[in-house]
Amino acid sequence: MSRHLSLIGMPGAGKTTLGQALAAYFGLPFVDLDAEIVARAGQSIPGIFAQRGELDFRQLEADTLRAVLARPAPLVLATGGGTPCFHNGITALNQHSITLWLDVPVSTLLARLQAAETAQRPLLSQAPAGLETRLYETLTARTQFYQQAQLHCAGDACTVAALLPRLAAAGFPPPAV
Ligand code: S3P
Repeated sequence: MSRHLSLIGMPGAGKTTLGQALAAYFGLPFVDLDAEIVARAGQSIPGIFAQRGELDFRQLEADTLRAVLARPAPLVLATGGGTPCFHNGITALNQHSITLWLDVPVSTLLARLQAAETAQRPLLSQAPAGLETRLYETLTARTQFYQQAQLHCAGDACTVAALLPRLAAAGFPPPAV
């Protein structure tokens, strides 16, 4: 079984941007789990939350995750912020990929998400006590899962150049067979 590289962390942590850059560097496919879920469901993420609810979304997310992880050729995967935290996601991720937690402070997440508009992120767009409070609460609840990643990079240290030796030491990318 080949080992993929999975990026985990909060919404706004930069999983997609860094994942695309790493995939381009290594010449590997990039997979965005949210995009895979949308393709499978034939519905947008806000549409799935609105019409089917979060429980259904989490099941769909878990099924899609297993399907992506089962692909034979190595790839770089950007997960959704909640992916490691439901249906033993972190265990599946650690079994089939090298996991990297992009650990970005709430102040940075807040600035990025405010600039980006949260309409596409249903859990954040419906935060009655405000976005900053929701981010703190969510990060606090999820840290126990994120911490189980094999690699951890904080804030500005998450660059391709800085990560290369650490990925090599972890055996990524795996040798071609
Ligand atoms: C979610 C994060 C989203 C998406 C869904 C749920 C979460 O992905 O999967 O809206 O629970 O944090 P991003 O982390 O790419 O925003």
